Amino acid sequence: MIDLQLTDKTHDEERQGEALIIDAPKALNARKLYIESYGCQMNFADSEIVASILLDQGFETTGNYQEADAIFINTCSIRENAEQRVRNRLSQFGIEKRKNPKLIVGVLGCMAERLKSKFLEEEKLVDVVVGPDAYRDLPALLEQVGEGQKAINVLLSREETYADISPVRLNGNGITAFISIMRGCDNMCSFCVVPFTRGRERSRDPHSILAEAQDLHERGYKEVTLLGQNVDSYKWKGSDQADDQAETVVNFAQLLEKVALISPELRVRFSTSHPKDITDEVLYTIKKHDNICNNIHLPVQSGSTRVLELMNRTYTREWYINRVDAIRSIIPDCAISTDIIAGFCSETEEEFQETMSMMDYVDYDFAFCFSYSERPGTMAARKLEDDVPEEVKKRRLKEILLKQQESSRKRLQESVGKTVRILVEGYSKKSDLDLCGRNDQNAMIVFPAVENVKPGQYVNVVIERCTSATLLGRIAD
Ligand code: 5AD
Ligand code: SF4
Repeated sequence: MIDLQLTDKTHDEERQGEALIIDAPKALNARKLYIESYGCQMNFADSEIVASILLDQGFETTGNYQEADAIFINTCSIRENAEQRVRNRLSQFGIEKRKNPKLIVGVLGCMAERLKSKFLEEEKLVDVVVGPDAYRDLPALLEQVGEGQKAINVLLSREETYADISPVRLNGNGITAFISIMRGCDNMCSFCVVPFTRGRERSRDPHSILAEAQDLHERGYKEVTLLGQNVDSYKWKGSDQADDQAETVVNFAQLLEKVALISPELRVRFSTSHPKDITDEVLYTIKKHDNICNNIHLPVQSGSTRVLELMNRTYTREWYINRVDAIRSIIPDCAISTDIIAGFCSETEEEFQETMSMMDYVDYDFAFCFSYSERPGTMAARKLEDDVPEEVKKRRLKEILLKQQESSRKRLQESVGKTVRILVEGYSKKSDLDLCGRNDQNAMIVFPAVENVKPGQYVNVVIERCTSATLLGRIAD
């Protein structure tokens, strides 16, 4: 788990600017590509698709942008500060561009889609702007740039899932990987820019998902995370491979089961679930398969039915509580994490208290907490007033974060004294005398390294104590 800080910058969805390096052999005279990704896991998965497309064009990745022939920045628009971070980074890349005018600077992802050609007007150093559904066009766009023109493709698609492109695993630990199972979003939450930047929802062919998971398993990977903006609405209609004539429908529970059946040694995670769509069938599938992790990310956003309605979340407080009760009764030791927004348009103090009482009710294992940031073009920006003063948003966010810190610690404390099975992911960030890995519930466990225990193995660890975000233990005898 990620340390909670008293800022709204802790969200994984806003992971910052990690440079991604391919784990493929280096070719002589290859052009060097530097990709930096911001935002959600989906964006990081997309960068692996981009790297795969550009690898075919003779690019190899580098972790040092100063030696790059092309710098790509895969951007996020979810909150204003995510965009600001990208702009600051672009001005740093401008220094390189002035040194080397042949350097190609590209903007990918959600900000490219939101700002379109405005990007080329506003940021003079940018040569190419590509939206999330247009990555296949990169070779042609780069050719255009090579001829001295600016290039842009921000067309959204109803079909593109990049199903046939085998992502190049970037910065991989060789143990855990993301698999994108769908793209886009049809929910139209009033605060959210995603439907505008990532387009309509479409599900990827399950055969290609299973082939990708099988391939990862054969290459020694031990965990896959199935990604979608709303995995519960995954739905694929198509022909059965065994019988071309028969049309089959695969829903998320069925897909999850198929992936779980690849091997009991391959752990399966998924994100994100939507409270309006998560079914008992999904919960029973999780219960049935030991290798599907007991961990559900179920964004609540607010505990107030009136605010949820303004957010166009299409569920009430009672509905959400009903889904939490179903999780608790079907999978008693399931971790539940969430996303919460403080200070949405017209949120009163009483309504904020309803969010706090929801947090008490659920006792979340983890929460990504934000203060509301108005996004241009969204329903809220057009129809509602962003009228909660900034200091009130900040104060509410702080209260939410403090409550979550307590909850996270309490949930972790429950594991102290127990023996848990974990997948070792690597050495701890702080010391290479310690290994770390996650348990079923996605809690991070750090323990002293011992001989014969290596990253990629499952081991049992006795939990001895915890901090607010991490469990500490030792290998069980
Ligand atoms: N302001 C603040 N938080 C937002 N999120 C999405 N849009 C906004 C916004 N405009 C949060 C939601 C969502 C998560 C990915 O980001 O909580 O679940
Ligand atoms: Fe950011 Fe949303 Fe785009 Fe992901 S989908 S990069 S969270 S705006």
